[in-house]
Amino acid sequence: MTILCWAAAAGCSGEASALDPAGPGARRVEGLWWLMFAISCAVFVVVLAFLAAAVIRSRRPTGSIQRDVPWGNRFVIVAGIIIPCLILGALFVVSLRDMSALSAPPEEPTVTIEVVARVWWWEIRYPEAEAVTANEIYIPADESVQLRLLGTDVIHSFWVPRLQVKTDHIPDRVNTLWLKADEPGRYRGQCAEFCGIQHANMIFWVEALPRAEFDSWLAEQAEPAQEPTGGAETGEEVFLRSACAGCHAVRGTEANAQVGPDLTHLAERETIVAGVLSNTRANLRRFIEDPQEVKPGIIMPPVELADEEMEALLDYLEQLD
Ligand code: CUA
Repeated sequence: MTILCWAAAAGCSGEASALDPAGPGARRVEGLWWLMFAISCAVFVVVLAFLAAAVIRSRRPTGSIQRDVPWGNRFVIVAGIIIPCLILGALFVVSLRDMSALSAPPEEPTVTIEVVARVWWWEIRYPEAEAVTANEIYIPADESVQLRLLGTDVIHSFWVPRLQVKTDHIPDRVNTLWLKADEPGRYRGQCAEFCGIQHANMIFWVEALPRAEFDSWLAEQAEPAQEPTGGAETGEEVFLRSACAGCHAVRGTEANAQVGPDLTHLAERETIVAGVLSNTRANLRRFIEDPQEVKPGIIMPPVELADEEMEALLDYLEQLD
């Protein structure tokens, strides 16, 4: 019993638990979840009580069981049809109330962010600041933020369990969603619609910062990449003449392709490959040399470079902060 309770409670916290809300959106979902859970438990207990009564009665000697109960049919109509309809009807009304409350932000959004879901990563754009990043969404804490969810290939679903409900990304459509985190913090997000072999590895993070820190982060992201120094100039040349520049952009250089993530401030990111690897030199090398080993099925091709070219390229990437 103790183990059961422990196992049940363990699911209620953690970085991807909708029952551990960190904002008003997820809090409303949590309230509805507990209401439905409580009603389900009550119905379950009543049904079990009737079942137990039936089993006990069936053990009596046959002659003593009263076969024709005068209120039998009425009981079936009330307990089997009317009461379930009342319970389901009430829950439907409460769900509609919550859906309507979740459709509008609690107050006027202060930032608009475009999120483009792709197989299998997230492009994050701040149109007002003209900043572009990937897989990490920075927002100001304790403020409502407006999201425009876009799609280009297949259907994906945007889900930050501790902050909001799931919302689909549909190709050639714009869906909207608001986000609000009560406190600064890091909240895990995940694609919640099966979208191919790497669906489970389509992870992102929402990073809520105090307003001043968010402003300086956004101002930095809007800047073009800094000029390479040390050995990194060679790395930039390698980047621009190899396959890298065919798919990625580094603002401030000739590389402006839109196929893969914008790498202008790559070194600032905590993870690469949509949350699969931490952003370290060794992991960058591993991924560039053999992307299919890290994330089978992705469109990034392996890049073959001489060892000194690879080291220079890594120097360059590590300077993109
Ligand atoms: Cu994208 Cu699942």
